[in-house]
Amino acid sequence: MKIILLGPPGAGKGTQADVICKAFNIPHISTGNMLREAVEAQTDLGKEAQALMDAGILVSDEVIVGLVEERIAQSDCQSGFLFDGFPRTIPQAEALVKRSIEIDFVIEIDVPEEEIINRMSGRRMHPGSGRNYHVEFNPPKAHDIDDETGEPLVQREDDKPETVKDRLQVYSNQTSPLIKFYSKGIESISYVKVSGSQSPEEVSRAILDQIKRS
Ligand code: AP5
Repeated sequence: MKIILLGPPGAGKGTQADVICKAFNIPHISTGNMLREAVEAQTDLGKEAQALMDAGILVSDEVIVGLVEERIAQSDCQSGFLFDGFPRTIPQAEALVKRSIEIDFVIEIDVPEEEIINRMSGRRMHPGSGRNYHVEFNPPKAHDIDDETGEPLVQREDDKPETVKDRLQVYSNQTSPLIKFYSKGIESISYVKVSGSQSPEEVSRAILDQIKRS
């Protein structure tokens, strides 16, 4: 099973990725998490990506496609994977087609812009795993502590309201054209659209129901 999760920043892609990957036993490939790990480790890629990410600007297509290609060549991806945050531009989507990487499902999570700013300001993240929480909608068991490791949670640098507005603009200009690309373009792909304006559990149920029905 090969799945792409599509949606604006804060739509709940990371949150739903955890559930879908468990349901289908496939690895979660988040280009955002991979880049944050590179930043944390201060690799050359991390140094190059940090300023762009903090400003909400996309990293180059070439770098991202290389990163993804390397990741999906690993053995755990043989029976499928879930892309979260990739592709994010038409050239990235075309790179998949060019390499004959066939996708089964594209799942669009739709959330209006007004809701997104609120979600981002309450998001907390576990840096080691990329696990996400929300202070109100999906709180950890203990305040600002990761449920699984007991380690402290942090707020992402790019979740400041002014950067979130820039990220939404980048989404609208560079990523939202993928909705048309996938919903109208490729017959072998099942396109699933769900409302992300429900509880995380309801969103999961809607996604899994639609996948099972397709
Ligand atoms: P990335 O990490 O991919 O960020 P994003 O796509 O902007 O998405 P987010 O992680 O912000 O949100 P999400 O949809 O996963 O929502 P979440 O589940 O956390 O990318 C970061 C940066 O890396 C980019 O800006 C770019 O610079 C670079 N980059 C990454 N990929 C790239 C690529 N392919 N090409 C070029 N550059 C790339 O949920 C958000 C919050 O809401 C959480 O607190 C959560 O608990 C809460 N929540 C979730 N669901 C619900 C719900 N149903 N109701 C209420 N709250 C909810």
